[in-house]
Amino acid sequence: MNVVDYFKPRKIVLKNGLEILIRPLKYTDKKELLKFYSELSDDSRVKLFQNYRSLEAWRTMRIKKAEVYTDGLIVDFKKSYSLLALVGDKKNFKIIGDGRFFLDKNNMKAELYLVVHENYRHIGVGGTLLEAMLEILKKLKVEEVYCYISKDNEAMLKLIEKHGFNREDLEEVYLFWRRI
Ligand SMILES: CC(C)(COP(=O)(O)OP(=O)(O)OC[C@H]1O[C@@H](n2cnc3c(N)ncnc32)[C@H](O)[C@@H]1OP(=O)(O)O)[C@@H](O)C(=O)NCCC(=O)NCCS
Repeated sequence: MNVVDYFKPRKIVLKNGLEILIRPLKYTDKKELLKFYSELSDDSRVKLFQNYRSLEAWRTMRIKKAEVYTDGLIVDFKKSYSLLALVGDKKNFKIIGDGRFFLDKNNMKAELYLVVHENYRHIGVGGTLLEAMLEILKKLKVEEVYCYISKDNEAMLKLIEKHGFNREDLEEVYLFWRRI
């Protein structure tokens, strides 16, 4: 099962006129992907991979799943599904967003996360990726999707709340989930 079979690449014009391409990750994207993750600020990394001690178990799990190394993220295509947002042309492109989910085939629940390049935020990239991911999850007949969001992550909280997720308070983070 590969995300490529469930999502045809598509061009989207954002509200500021910027044209982006949304397409599944390819093996050949590795160099650009590492560049994208290495350019993220510490704040974005913390928000993505949490560094709260009490969340160690969750963090370890996520890191293991995503096979994260210090400056980048190597993809395991069997476990994770990634949709990229890109600018530029085929030969000279730049990754500006990564929407990813990890599917547990035992219970058909998927955990998702989203990250957008700091220079391209608040123009609709995150929302576009989230909607595209929900579309794929539906095709895959996933039953439930969820994500953990820290309570100070204003942007992601606003974004997820717009998409009909239920919220559960886990003290240090919120768990957001919805049926597909
Ligand atoms: C969360 C994140 C993915 C949002 O990406 P984005 O491309 O900026 O999101 P969008 O432009 O689609 O914004 C969607 C909505 O989120 C809200 N939003 C986005 N940026 C915001 C900000 N800086 N402050 C407050 N609200 C914000 C707005 O409500 C916006 O809708 P609107 O433009 O219609 O008002 C991005 O901020 C990010 O990569 N953060 C770091 C990583 C992270 O925290 N990931 C979440 C882990 S699950």
